[in-house]
Amino acid sequence: MRTLITGGAGYIGSHVARLLGDRGDAVVVVDDLSTGFTDRLGGARLVRLDLASDTAPSILGDVLREERIDAVLHLAARKQVHESVQRPAWYYSQNVGSLANLLLAMESASVSKLVFSSSAAVYGAVEGDSVAESATTRPVNPYGRTKLIGEQLIDDAAFGSGLSAVSLRYFNVGGAGWADLADRAVLNLVPMVFQRLDAGLPPVIFGDDYPTPDGTCVRDYVHVLDLADAHIAALDHLAAGATGHEVFNVGTGEGTSVRAMVDEILTVAGSTLTPEVHPRRPGDPARVVASAALIAEKLGWRAERGLEEIVRSAWEAHLTGTPGV
Ligand SMILES: NC(=O)c1ccc[n+]([C@@H]2O[C@H](COP(=O)([O-])OP(=O)(O)OC[C@H]3O[C@@H](n4cnc5c(N)ncnc54)[C@H](O)[C@@H]3O)[C@@H](O)[C@H]2O)c1
Repeated sequence: MRTLITGGAGYIGSHVARLLGDRGDAVVVVDDLSTGFTDRLGGARLVRLDLASDTAPSILGDVLREERIDAVLHLAARKQVHESVQRPAWYYSQNVGSLANLLLAMESASVSKLVFSSSAAVYGAVEGDSVAESATTRPVNPYGRTKLIGEQLIDDAAFGSGLSAVSLRYFNVGGAGWADLADRAVLNLVPMVFQRLDAGLPPVIFGDDYPTPDGTCVRDYVHVLDLADAHIAALDHLAAGATGHEVFNVGTGEGTSVRAMVDEILTVAGSTLTPEVHPRRPGDPARVVASAALIAEKLGWRAERGLEEIVRSAWEAHLTGTPGV
């Protein structure tokens, strides 16, 4: 299989690229390096391109033809919720515009298999113990809306132009499969706690008065290597002849409270600091946990790595001193 990965210089895309390379698949990466790093690429060819630019469809169409690409994994996106609130038009042009350009290029090169990075952010405020793919989607910020519109655009392309696609709605991603591919952004809970510990400061928990067992928010953490495996399962599903557009949650189905996660980090880091509790942040739902039944049934994928492995692998990568980790 010859695969093109957009966002392959990023945290998750580089894990997917390395797993595909390890099994002998040819991989080409398209990335503008806005938040990606070339040292994550290994031997993969990089085409440096802003997918949202006017020239992207024709450049990308040429790459798809020259490289005889069979399938595209589209991970490139802007993903900062706060920034999406401040610059909504730019987020739409980046995330929705890039996808539209990619679909134009795929159509022109007759490439019809796509795996799309979506997000649990499409659900918005969720109710119940776990959220299934059939739940109402009511994203609460522009970032989540760009992902939902992306899914809708793919629905239309699957209906109108014969695209075969899988969208993966990631829950909370963490860990590192290889130290050099670690998450270098400080946007998620684990890197944020590491940053506090580095500064000799106690970790911060936002709100301990939620209606959850220990009062802190509950999330579903999935190891980045398990997530990368889910992309390969999706790709193989398309290669086996799946048609239309299917949407799957990628989570473990297990909830972990913020306090339990912070405690695990303190244990792994050997720290005796006591977390500080600050007031709730606006917009944080109490509990967001995936129903992971559909992806197990249809793709045979299940998360294999637990919380300890997520934290330990992230901490070990942090200790190797990868820039920004
Ligand atoms: N990390 C998470 O917790 C999480 C959760 C849900 C969904 N996602 C989604 O997963 C995908 C990958 O996220 P990540 O955590 O690896 O982020 P990342 O920032 O590390 O990777 C994104 C990559 O896309 C590239 N990129 C961004 N805009 C581009 C553009 N216009 N043209 C070309 N390249 C561009 C960046 O340079 C970067 O290499 C994103 O689509 C994100 O929305 C991530």
